[in-house]
Amino acid sequence: MEKTYVIATCNEEDTIRLGKILASVFEDRVIAVCGDLGAGKTHFAKGIALGMGIAKHVTSPTFSILNIYRNGDKTFYHMDAYRLTDEESAYNAGIEDILQPKGITLIEWAENVTDILSDGYVSVNIEKGSDENKRLLYVTADRQSVDRMALLIHEDTDR
Ligand SMILES: Nc1ncnc2c1ncn2[C@@H]1O[C@H](COP(=O)(O)OP(=O)(O)OP(=O)(O)O)[C@@H](O)[C@H]1O
Ligand SMILES: [Mg+2]
Repeated sequence: MEKTYVIATCNEEDTIRLGKILASVFEDRVIAVCGDLGAGKTHFAKGIALGMGIAKHVTSPTFSILNIYRNGDKTFYHMDAYRLTDEESAYNAGIEDILQPKGITLIEWAENVTDILSDGYVSVNIEKGSDENKRLLYVTADRQSVDRMALLIHEDTDR
């Protein structure tokens, strides 16, 4: 049973902070991120990397398509599927090898490759808000993970 939780962020730091929290909830999962140009997908990915303890600066994989970061035995696979508009290009980019991560796989423009993903992936949809710096992040996953995530976010805002 899946559940969706909506989180509002007010600036890019907020989105990074959210990613940082989510990294502990979604260990060993695939996170499919959707959202318009400049929605904040890469900033969210920066947060995930920080949460995984990756010190290296995360940059957009727009041209490389896949960037790989490691921290010990944990790997962060950061893919940009913007140009992977047919299945063949996605397979050529090595998507099959990153679908069962020991760590986290995050795919930007995931709508291009959803047919290839296996069930159980986490979906994050980022919507731009009325204000220039506001975003709404819709996180959909299994109920248990979403509840755990909500608790952690709540604890974080209480501080
Ligand atoms: N609440 C917010 N969360 C994230 N980014 C924000 C927010 N408010 C403003 N921004 C700005 O929006 C832009 C988001 O850029 P980012 O590269 O993360 O988007 P993207 O969705 O990855 O874009 P692309 O489609 O080009 O990959 C940045 O310039 C960032 O400063
Ligand atoms: Mg991006």
